[in-house]
Amino acid sequence: MSAKDIDFNNLGFSYIKTDLRYISYWKDGKWDDGQLTEDNVLHISEGSPSLHYGQQSFEGLKAYRCKDGSINLFRPDKNAERMQASCDRLLMPEVPTDVFVEACKQVVKANEAYLPPYGTGGSLYLRPFIIGTGDNIGVNAAREYIFSIFCMPVGPYFKGGMTPHNFVVSSYDRAAPNGTGAAKVGGNYAASLLAGKEARERKFSDAIYLDPATHTLIEEVGAANFFGITEDDEFVTPLSPSILPSITKYSLLYLAEHRLGLKATEGLVPIDGLEQFKEAGACGTAAVITPIGGIQNGDDFHVFYSETEVGPITTKLYDELVGIQYGDVVAPDGWIFKV
Ligand SMILES: Cc1ncc(COP(=O)(O)O)c(C=O)c1O
Repeated sequence: MSAKDIDFNNLGFSYIKTDLRYISYWKDGKWDDGQLTEDNVLHISEGSPSLHYGQQSFEGLKAYRCKDGSINLFRPDKNAERMQASCDRLLMPEVPTDVFVEACKQVVKANEAYLPPYGTGGSLYLRPFIIGTGDNIGVNAAREYIFSIFCMPVGPYFKGGMTPHNFVVSSYDRAAPNGTGAAKVGGNYAASLLAGKEARERKFSDAIYLDPATHTLIEEVGAANFFGITEDDEFVTPLSPSILPSITKYSLLYLAEHRLGLKATEGLVPIDGLEQFKEAGACGTAAVITPIGGIQNGDDFHVFYSETEVGPITTKLYDELVGIQYGDVVAPDGWIFKV
């Protein structure tokens, strides 16, 4: 689809092929210079460890068109660092932060026509990924890798965007206690597909995962982190070694404390203690802030603020975060990278 055929006011979250993507190859112990290519098809060995043993990692971040026409990237250095941690966990070579950020900028510039205009609520989603390639059959780390970044224009991840969504607690785990839950690797998402499907079949937006060791604490809300606002105005988000360290979550912890004047903590969030929260939400690059209307846990359905209205603190957090991303609100130092 060419950029001029896109209805930027009605974007969902689905693949759209854009003009150019970045690709770089690791061979003989080093990355090549990397380049932009029109080709969106990868040609890799049938023995690639990414295909058989899940040796791969990916990231997700967004570029935003500002009112003055300039383009903001939101904290791409943090995605670079998280991908480095994922690579360390799966024995893959790291991509240096400056290379990662520069490649993001190149991809945004090369596909600028696909960037949704300011005011549409859309953004350009970037998908960096790294895969182990090359001839291989034993369970070993690859000797060759591909690092690539493609992009596409997106709207809200959960249909309806900033309206309350209901979620259901899953009996499946997405990650193991000392496994790869904190790394952004495909295996965690493969493990979550069935839980997500079952949740949607029951008309919930997605599954909530509990901690894999005791099944008593909230960990993740689909592909997003959880947060709650307590009755005494504290912003609380789960602390666990098996959840993905969400860049949005850390941004909200900062904004809750420094812009909204709330106490903001990471702590344990028992599924049996939901009544402590007057508001709750899911947060992430794709989910942005998605208010949680209610959570189904077994036979219990707990409603937070409302199933139809968004709470005042969730709204303030949303306005602050999204305002920063689109350049309407002054960002904390180092959060915005101009393209
Ligand atoms: C499992 C999971 N949790 C949380 C998040 C949110 O992370 P971030 O805010 O960095 O996008 C994501 C999305 O990246 C995710 O896939």
